[in-house]
Amino acid sequence: MTITVLRLGHRPQRDKRLSTHLILCARALGAEKVIYTGMRDPRLEESIVSVVNEWGGSFDIEYTASHRGVIRNWDGKIVHLTMYGLQAHEASREVKEIDEPLLIVVGGAKVPWDVYEGADWNVSVTTQPHSEVSALAIFMHLLQGDMALQHEFPGGRLKITPNPKGKDVEIEGGRRGRGSAKTKSSEST
Ligand SMILES: C[S@@+](CC[C@H](N)C(=O)[O-])C[C@H]1O[C@@H](n2cnc3c(N)ncnc32)[C@H](O)[C@@H]1O
Repeated sequence: MTITVLRLGHRPQRDKRLSTHLILCARALGAEKVIYTGMRDPRLEESIVSVVNEWGGSFDIEYTASHRGVIRNWDGKIVHLTMYGLQAHEASREVKEIDEPLLIVVGGAKVPWDVYEGADWNVSVTTQPHSEVSALAIFMHLLQGDMALQHEFPGGRLKITPNPKGKDVEIEGGRRGRGSAKTKSSEST
């Protein structure tokens, strides 16, 4: 199943960090693309492209003025994350069986009613209000299990080797290092 995330109603002044975190969350947990609506934000797009260049994998960010065309023309299934939906741990059992592209819609301040109607599933993570980032992370984990945490990101300049103490970062062709094309830097802080 491929996953695309549709983020509604981005406001550059108020949502810059939140939208960045949401998009990075989508990428890290295996979405292949984020489409966002609201106000176009070249700085947001640049910051995501720069993360992809540094950390690898293929991931696209796209702006569209309205969610309507995206939802109407989606060739697959649609989940809308909202605190009013079906419980995520129950709905995800059904959603993870699909063999079609999945669009996960996450809101901004006010979600128009047509999003609720256009979704195949309105899904809630806990039925309590929290954040689009936490809702997306938990739902993507429910869908994919621990595979959500193990996606590969080939072609990046930076790669972390998990380390119980300190930082272990491999730098491809980096300026830092010890003069070789592939260097390893270990830091204790
Ligand atoms: C600030 S919240 C607005 C809450 C909104 N009234 C709603 O319908 O969930 C922004 C977005 O976070 C997500 N969200 C917040 N709490 C959620 C929950 N418990 N389950 C799923 N998504 C949630 C939704 O995508 C929502 O549109």
